[in-house]
Amino acid sequence: MVLGIESSCDETAAAVVRGPGHVLSNVVATQHELHAEYAGVVPEIASRAHLERIEPVIVTAVRAAGITLADLDAVAVGHRPGLIGSLLVGVSAAKALAWSLDVPLVGVDHVHAHLYAGGLSGTLPLPEIAYPALGLVVSGGHTSLYRLTDPLAITRLGRTIDDAVGEAFDKAATLLELGYPGGPAIDRLAVRGDDTTHDFPIARLDNPLDFSFSGLKTALLYAVRGHPVGRGPAATFPRSAADLSDAARADCAASFQRAAVTAVIRNTRRALESTSDTRSLLVGGGVAANTRLRRELGALADERGVTLRIPEIAYCLDNGAMIAGLASQRLDRGEADELTLSAATRVVV
Ligand code: KG4
Ligand code: ZN
Repeated sequence: MVLGIESSCDETAAAVVRGPGHVLSNVVATQHELHAEYAGVVPEIASRAHLERIEPVIVTAVRAAGITLADLDAVAVGHRPGLIGSLLVGVSAAKALAWSLDVPLVGVDHVHAHLYAGGLSGTLPLPEIAYPALGLVVSGGHTSLYRLTDPLAITRLGRTIDDAVGEAFDKAATLLELGYPGGPAIDRLAVRGDDTTHDFPIARLDNPLDFSFSGLKTALLYAVRGHPVGRGPAATFPRSAADLSDAARADCAASFQRAAVTAVIRNTRRALESTSDTRSLLVGGGVAANTRLRRELGALADERGVTLRIPEIAYCLDNGAMIAGLASQRLDRGEADELTLSAATRVVV
């Protein structure tokens, strides 16, 4: 029975998981309302909010699992990568709890945990994930492809060289004046639009498995606001999103979503084509909640004959269950960390 704590960005989360993936509770306190007016996460606000919420979130997760703290076999925490102030709150709470309960402390990489989320279930036990696998993480902070030979042996094959795809969705939504976080809003609006209205660019890069979304973002900016007059910060635009009809905004959202999803699918297909032994396609991160991406990944997995392991929406977004689940894999190998475990902002692989 492992408690997983997650605080790397703007969700304060804790969950109790039994064995490799049976989720007994999964509690997430979102901070979206605190960051909405800034259209992005403000690190200082995030870390202070984590500090206020971490204890009630942990207490609620333990209660909701129908257990007491004394039933926990280990305390796990996502200790990298992320915002340093945010990570430190979760890491400090995990250390204090592990020390006071005299149980192992297990640090887990947040991105690797996203790749494990397809193995989690709150009801029926799922079949074990078959390896080797191709991993795709699509979130607000990451857009990367990985090769996994087991849940903990992970090599990165490609990554974004600028914005993450979720960040691009969020910026697109801000431009279209749809609010924050933008992914779900674009997803909903795109249903009503014509995705062929704008032929937005998809980047070509030296590493065919890398991603870039900055050109797409600029193309959308021009489509929505027109071509700028002047350069740099002094540039002015002929119009704003409010000047567009509802139908025109939906067309922009649909065309943007088509380009973003096509870029992700194209690289995922390339990675699948480059190996013959891949058995599973593991997908994680908030953008894995996107309706179009889920559909196209399903079709791609069928076409390539691999098993798609895409989490339920709750486990796509940042959560403590994925942290606890991956930690159980480390514990099974006899691995744990010292109380000197530190938070790290960077990705390691
Ligand atoms: O994994 P996550 O909760 O946090 C990070 O680790 O970044 O992902 C959050 C991101 C946000 O950028 C949000 O806009 C995006 O996931 N997102 C979506 C959808 N739901 C959430 N993007 C596209 N379509 C969605 N339905
Ligand atoms: Zn995440």
